[in-house]
Amino acid sequence: MATEASVPAPLRIFVVGAGLCGLTAAVALRRQGHRIEILESSLMDRDIGAAVTVQANAIRVLEYLGYTAENLKGVDSYGTVRFSGSGGEGKPHHFLIPKDDMGRGAWLCHRTDLHGELKRLAIGEDGAGPPARLHLGQEVVSCDPVTGTLALKNGDVREADLILGCDGIHSIIRTSVLGYVQQALPSGMSTFRCLFDATKLEGLADMEWFTEGMSGGRSVTSPEERYRELYLYPCRAGTLINVVAHHVDDRDQDKHEWNATASVEEVLDEFKSFHPRYLKFLELAEQPILRWQLRALPILPTWINGRTALLGDAAHATLPTLGQGAGMALEDAAAIGCLIQLGTRPEEIPARLEAYQRLRKSRGEFVNRESLEQARQSLKRGLYARSKEMQEFLIGYDAIGTTQKYYSENFSATLT
Ligand SMILES: Cc1cc2nc3c(=O)[nH]c(=O)nc-3n(C[C@H](O)[C@H](O)[C@H](O)COP(=O)(O)OP(=O)(O)OC[C@H]3O[C@@H](n4cnc5c(N)ncnc54)[C@H](O)[C@@H]3O)c2cc1C
Ligand SMILES: *[C@@H]1O[C@H](CO)[C@@H](O)[C@H](O)[C@H]1NC(C)=O
Ligand SMILES: *[C@@H]1O[C@H](CO)[C@@H](O)[C@H](O)[C@H]1NC(C)=O
Repeated sequence: MATEASVPAPLRIFVVGAGLCGLTAAVALRRQGHRIEILESSLMDRDIGAAVTVQANAIRVLEYLGYTAENLKGVDSYGTVRFSGSGGEGKPHHFLIPKDDMGRGAWLCHRTDLHGELKRLAIGEDGAGPPARLHLGQEVVSCDPVTGTLALKNGDVREADLILGCDGIHSIIRTSVLGYVQQALPSGMSTFRCLFDATKLEGLADMEWFTEGMSGGRSVTSPEERYRELYLYPCRAGTLINVVAHHVDDRDQDKHEWNATASVEEVLDEFKSFHPRYLKFLELAEQPILRWQLRALPILPTWINGRTALLGDAAHATLPTLGQGAGMALEDAAAIGCLIQLGTRPEEIPARLEAYQRLRKSRGEFVNRESLEQARQSLKRGLYARSKEMQEFLIGYDAIGTTQKYYSENFSATLT
């Protein structure tokens, strides 16, 4: 039995933000035995009405975390069937890399279901390590990245060995890490997002293009030059239909709220050139329909400073065109979990974060830049849809294995 002195001391880690990234980081680090406090500004009492594609690289992370696949209620995706907005037959585009040996494909799931499963793994009693503690309604206003001091809106000050900025696209930890404000920049595109109950499709004529054929997404692109794309898919075991409607948004983005609501009339007007069978999906939309500006961060000079790191959207908020925003957030968080093993001493943290940056930054930035490029090229079908190499690079990646290999070659000796 280990004596008191030989038991490695856990680190005190503060995770700012309980989105997909923050919760994943909390799961990975509690598994190591660290003490995790998650500070979340919201009360997490509102459903985010959106679904996400969980591709094989993200599924690999979820497996490492010991998730229960059934809890995601995911719908299998084998790729996308593409249609022209004017109607006609669709063309199926299967993922260009086969399901791997473990049978990982991709899932379409409601963000709330994925979030709920990560929350269970982070704060539940099951599993290794002490459950992370989730503090709701706790807004962080700034941090000192080098000393590891966090300031909360309520006046509290907290000390940490490690601070993880998982506070999303409007991150304030980013401001503290960089020393200046860097906002995500408008792309000139927005998206209407909504969900509706799948039972509304029952008995409707001319729906085979959606309900039959390959399980996966349906993409419908504008017959005209101007970019408009409907992306439709089921989630939550097929009981909900997720509607995403990307379009060029000529308004001055800085003069509008990034997540305003839109009326059905506005949405139909934007997509009026589309065949009625596609417009049906917009008419069935349940309120509220949100108009989300699509913004992306420029490349940041650094993701780390002292004992603080940026992860997920806080580091590399991207457009949804590759379906990899959540995937990158999960990979970042898992990499941190593999690098900050139990026994890591507080003074070793800056070097571990250097390794995190070396392992993750170019990959996150590749997705960020390429997602913009996809949007620009979408009429010609972007590189991702065409390129097996790129799909292998994105979906075939093993964030855990790569980080563990890096760790054992570069750090494992320091633990003995
Ligand atoms: C239209 C659209 C479609 C998308 N589709 C996909 C897809 O198909 N597949 C995919 O992989 N990704 C997709 N994404 C991207 C994906 O949703 C994000 O990349 C992912 O959710 C980012 O997770 P995160 O945890 O980094 O940030 P968030 O989910 O934004 O979480 C940040 C958390 O931090 C909290 N917070 C913020 N500030 C503070 C503060 N000061 N103090 C305390 N807490 C704070 C917030 O309340 C929030 O809970 C899409 C995005 C958009 C906009
Ligand atoms: C838009 O986001 C802000 C926070 O940035 C939030 O307070 C507001 O409720 C959101 N609006 C909608 C319509 O969801
Ligand atoms: C160890 O670190 C060096 C320097 O960052 C890096 O080049 C090397 O690839 C790392 N080892 C592994 C196995 O990743």
